[in-house]
Amino acid sequence: TGLWAVVPAAGQGTRFGAELPKQYLKLNGKAVIEHSLDALLGCCEIRGVAVALKADDPIFAELACATNPIVRRITGGAERAESVELALASLSEAQDGDWILVHDAARPCLSQRDIQMLLAKGRAHPVGALLAAPVVDTMKRATDQTEVAETVDRQVLWRALTPQLFRYGALRDALKYCREQGLPVTDEASAMEHCGLQPLLVQGSHRNIKITYPDDLLIAEVFLAGANN
Ligand code: CTP
Ligand code: MG
Repeated sequence: TGLWAVVPAAGQGTRFGAELPKQYLKLNGKAVIEHSLDALLGCCEIRGVAVALKADDPIFAELACATNPIVRRITGGAERAESVELALASLSEAQDGDWILVHDAARPCLSQRDIQMLLAKGRAHPVGALLAAPVVDTMKRATDQTEVAETVDRQVLWRALTPQLFRYGALRDALKYCREQGLPVTDEASAMEHCGLQPLLVQGSHRNIKITYPDDLLIAEVFLAGANN
């Protein structure tokens, strides 16, 4: 069975609020998306990477990783899930039983160790898997008046990270089903869950942060400068 990757990179970075979309901001001399892609490209098993970009993206083509022969560009959609669906459709050589890694362009601190752990555990699971991290704060469920309704048991709560690893055919069908039914899909696992499936949570590094706000870029700088990332 083959292994492929999809990188959603068609977002605007609204919360970050920079002039450029956050995936193109410089981080230790390289664009954020180059760090994310280089991590995936470090995994020699991957046969092709489909990168979903905004329709009029003028920046990606200028990057060094754009010339890598296994990297292909496609036009993404208005929502992340739509970008992933379009990228999957572009991987026309992929077989239904092949595995797909989906990794946010905005997560530049992905380590080879986490990729390998996800592959080992995810490919041994009937559904697939996602990197995740236990929550560290005490969690509250709120009332409509922003008062505390209750404290939620934190032992069972995880933050979903990427990459997420699923079979090509199953993920394609799950995303299509959720789109047709109007079900909310904020990561690939949620699409599988809507189909009654239970993906495996694989504990990954807490350093695998998503760049969302300006401070995240400073934190990522420190993580990437550290030797054992
Ligand atoms: N993404 C995408 N297509 C979209 C929206 C998001 O490919 N229509 C990608 C982003 O480029 C990012 C990843 O999905 O790599 C995670 O999304 P998020 O962190 O929300 O990024 P943005 O949507 O760009 O940020 P914001 O929500 O603040 O605008
Ligand atoms: Mg977004």
